[in-house]
Amino acid sequence: MFTLPPLPYADNALEPVISANTISFHYGKHHKTYVDNLNNLVKGTDYESATLEKIITETAGKADKAPLFNNAAQIWNHTFYWNSLKAGGGGKPAGKLMELIDSSFGGYDNFKKELSATTVSQFGSGWGWLVQDGSALKIVKTPNAEVPFTKGQKPLLTIDVWEHAYYLDHQNKRAAYVDAVIDKLLNWEFAAQNLG
Ligand SMILES: [Fe+2]
Repeated sequence: MFTLPPLPYADNALEPVISANTISFHYGKHHKTYVDNLNNLVKGTDYESATLEKIITETAGKADKAPLFNNAAQIWNHTFYWNSLKAGGGGKPAGKLMELIDSSFGGYDNFKKELSATTVSQFGSGWGWLVQDGSALKIVKTPNAEVPFTKGQKPLLTIDVWEHAYYLDHQNKRAAYVDAVIDKLLNWEFAAQNLG
């Protein structure tokens, strides 16, 4: 059985950028529904006791396995997203991450511009990511439920740009939501843990 991991903070911790109302739908309904769907899909199959990563890796790109991939990946993505955020986050990271941002993007301002532009430009539903690819950091976007680690890139942080992530608080202003997340919520300690 897959379970909905606990939110790593109170439901109002990310206000005013992300309200408790958004969390109640996004975490309490959308994220939970992916867990419920996956549990129904794996019942009686070899995947019943598999890890999410195994299901995602083995079903990626297989049209006949799309429901398994989509629900497993969306559980993984959302858990990763909640951990990518924290109250009082955002701004510049310290240490190795800042060095990698300087060498990969030519400074924090360029990094921030590229993260915002790439994430905002995802057409339709999807995700913006900071990933480690070899010795460099990169910014990528993925549509729908897709995850960078199926292509060998290691996710460090993500921003959800499905409309359910921001519409209640920012309506159609996706860029305002993304920029506020970058400035106020990104959890650089989580990114540093992922960098290893
Ligand atoms: Fe979402």
